[in-house]
Amino acid sequence: MNGKRVLVTRIFPQSGIDKLVEEGFIVTQWDKERPMTQPEMVEMAKSHDALFCTLTDKIDFEFLHECSHLEMISQFGVGYDNIAIAEATRLGIPVGNTPDVLSEATADIAFGLMIATSRKMFWLHKTIERGEWSYFSPNAHLGMDIKGKTIGIFGLGRIGFEMAKRCKGAYGMEIIYHNRTRNLVAENELGARLVCFDELLAQSDVLSLHCALTPETKGLFDKKVFEKMKPTAIFINTARGAVHHEPDLIEALETGQLWGAGLDVTNPEPMMPDNPLLKMENVCVLPHVGSGTAEVRSKMSLMTAENIIGFYRDGKIPHLVNPEVRY
Ligand code: DGY
Repeated sequence: MNGKRVLVTRIFPQSGIDKLVEEGFIVTQWDKERPMTQPEMVEMAKSHDALFCTLTDKIDFEFLHECSHLEMISQFGVGYDNIAIAEATRLGIPVGNTPDVLSEATADIAFGLMIATSRKMFWLHKTIERGEWSYFSPNAHLGMDIKGKTIGIFGLGRIGFEMAKRCKGAYGMEIIYHNRTRNLVAENELGARLVCFDELLAQSDVLSLHCALTPETKGLFDKKVFEKMKPTAIFINTARGAVHHEPDLIEALETGQLWGAGLDVTNPEPMMPDNPLLKMENVCVLPHVGSGTAEVRSKMSLMTAENIIGFYRDGKIPHLVNPEVRY
């Protein structure tokens, strides 16, 4: 019995919770579907040593200062833009996350959205619900081919690589990418070509975002950027909604500046049901389900627990986000 107290902020797959209990942790699990409010989270975290949290939890400067006693934070998810990492580091709080395990599932959603958007699938499903399927129409609801087109990947990391692999394998698409660093594996295995940002915008028939949300990427995809893209292009975002400026995206689609969009993330989340994007023929929207398979979510829960266990057992977090931290 190690007796360390872990606050689990949401109802997560049981695998990680069971593992923590098995290892002797005292686990408090928030048992409501909704996320905790900020005062609730602060109040509960005060009596715990570690946090098992996710992207809906705002682990900001204020929270960290109220709860600077926390010994570590383990994030269920690869992205951690909800956590003020620099401040956690200053306070000596290491942060773990769950990379890799969700790359393929997330790329499946990006790839699926690309096809669904190019063939207007979500829209066509709705026309049937409305009783609008009368007869086969040779000239109606035409989509566009993906084969032979160019996929532009913004952020060619693990998820971007999986997306590029699918595009190459299924359609032999030409792959261009924009990244801070070269991805030699993608260049050698998939023939991917590193291009500057403006070339990525100008050349992509499908532009798929796989970057982290950072001060540099926040709101980056706005009117000015959409104007540099092809009017026949499809915009895919499965990264973070805040990377695109949603009113500008709506305008670009309404004015024909862009052909279509497939979104697994929106800005803000959740998307309101009256959002004009939901009424557009060439737009497909999902409610942030990139990593959402039972298998992947269960592995993510286990990895979140393993980060906590590693920290207390060996003083090492297997997937540490802030290696510069001193604890
Ligand atoms: C992540 O891991 O960052 C996803 O967005 C949530 O599964």
